[in-house]
Formats: sequence, C-alpha cells, structure tokens
Amino acid sequence: MPSSPRLGHVVITGAAGAIGGALARALAARHPGVDLALVDVDDAGLARTAAALPATASASVHRWDLAAPDALPARWQALVAERGPVDGLVNCAGVMDVRTVAAMPWAVGRRVLDVDLTSPLCLMTLAAPAMVAAGHGVIVNVSSMAGRVPLRGCAYYGGAKAGLAMASEIAAVELAGHGVHVVTVYPGPVASALERGARAQLRPSLLERLMPMGDPARMAGLVVRALDRGETRVVYPPLYALADRAVGLASWVTRRYSPAPAA
Ligand SMILES: NC(=O)c1ccc[n+]([C@@H]2O[C@H](COP(=O)([O-])OP(=O)(O)OC[C@H]3O[C@@H](n4cnc5c(N)ncnc54)[C@H](OP(=O)(O)O)[C@@H]3O)[C@@H](O)[C@H]2O)c1
Repeated sequence: MPSSPRLGHVVITGAAGAIGGALARALAARHPGVDLALVDVDDAGLARTAAALPATASASVHRWDLAAPDALPARWQALVAERGPVDGLVNCAGVMDVRTVAAMPWAVGRRVLDVDLTSPLCLMTLAAPAMVAAGHGVIVNVSSMAGRVPLRGCAYYGGAKAGLAMASEIAAVELAGHGVHVVTVYPGPVASALERGARAQLRPSLLERLMPMGDPARMAGLVVRALDRGETRVVYPPLYALADRAVGLASWVTRRYSPAPAA
C-alpha cells in the first residue's frame, strides 16, 4: 500500500466545522510534526479545533472570509511568507442554502457560488504551482453527492459542488504526473450544523428520513486512508457509492422523490 509522504504545512478551510475539524485531527494524527493553517469565519470553532490537536502538531488560525475570493491571493502570499510553503490544501469550508431557483435571492445564491466554488478553485490555483515545482503535494476538495444528482432546492449548492468536483477530477489527472495527489470527496448526509440547517429547509419526507447519516470522524479517516493509498475519490456514507456508480438511476430517483424545499 503506498503511503503519502509526510506533510509539512497544510491549509484546511472550514476547519471550525464538523468535517473540517475532524480532518484537521485525522491529518495531525497521521502526519506528526505537521503545521496546520486552520481557516474559517468561526473564531470560537477555530480555537476549539486548534485546542483538540495532538501535541505533535502546530497550528495557526486564520479568519478568512471565503465569500470574498479576491482577497485570497494576498492572504495566501502573507501566509506563505509567515509560515513557509504549503504542501497540503483541504478545501472543506461550505455553505448550503436549500431553496428553489424561483425563491433564491441572488445575493444568497452568489454567496454559495463564491464560498463553495470560486474560493476553492482560487485556492487550488494558488497552491498548485509551488506543489508542482516541489514535485510533492496533496489537495483535498470536499464536494457533495448533491453535485452528482439533481436534488430539489440545490440548484446553486449542487451547481457549485458539481463544478468543484469536475475541476478537482481534472486537476487530479493534470497534477498526478507532477507528484501532486488530488482527492475529490463526495459526502452524502454527514452529521453537522450545515446538514441540520439544510434539513430544516426541507419539507418532511420519507426519503429524507431514510437517508443514512454519516459520522465526520469516520469520513475524515477515509480521506486520510485515500491519501495513503493514492486513491482519488472518496464517497461516504457507503450506500452513496451505489448512487455514484449508478448515477442515472440515482438521478431518476431524486428527480421523483427528493424532498421539496419549504421555499
Ligand atoms: N454535512 C453534510 O451532510 C455534507 C454533505 C455533503 C457535503 N458537505 C460539505 O462538507 C464541507 C464541510 O461541511 P460540514 O458538514 O462540516 O459543515 P459545518 O460544520 O457547517 O462546517 C462548514 C464550515 O465552513 C465555514 N464557513 C462558512 N462560510 C464560510 C466563509 N464564507 N468563509 C470561511 N468559512 C466559512 C462554517 O462557518 P460558520 O459555521 O460560521 O458558517 C463552518 O465552520 C462543506 O463543504 C459541505 O458542503 C457536507
């Protein structure tokens, strides 16, 4: 089993959240000595994630608002100048807002696109050249099964996640020959504030109650395992791997039975 080279300096966005925090802990456990740059807009959550890291890891915390992608190049340069080159990027921050196209205010939809698509692509573009020059690096992009099948109320969120997934899968092919390993992650429902908020925007339905719920720590473990094994895709919870393989059938089911948004 190939094992990923020891990581030195890893940027994790959404590090205050359920999945981002779990990824920070899992990467710190797998790569002793790693320096994690924890990025989020939730200051208290960032402090909690930093405090929960093992003593073998160091961390810096950064309040970067990913709804403002144009500010990222300067922030990135400042981070590299202060803490050194980045050999790992985890794009995990996300926002989800479940409304029909007809009910979506443009400002809200635009924010979803900026946080979930434009900023992750900007950060990949900032990270990749130095990784290619060094011949070493990892990039993890957290997309969503909502980017694979047409869920009602997810035109913006699913559109952003589909775009991120496609860019990530292309980057995986382009960068593989340069020693840069790109992993695209497709979560189904995983317990978190984002998931609870999205569920609260849906009308109750049988399918919504039947959907299995994943655990952030378990998912983070699978991402670290994919990095170790040289795998490029993670689908979790396991049931959604079936939907990923039979995407035509899964799309048929979601077109007919996915829960309707309240607005
Ligand atoms: N949980 C699921 O069911 C599920 C399914 C598929 C994909 N995902 C994806 O998994 C990733 C992690 O989500 P999660 O479930 O762990 O949710 P979470 O616990 O809510 O974490 C998301 C984090 O992103 C932060 N964030 C939001 N807007 C930001 C901004 N403008 N700039 C910087 N950070 C920002 C949030 O801060 P605030 O809390 O302050 O907003 C939060 O700390 C997301 O990309 C999400 O789309 C999750």
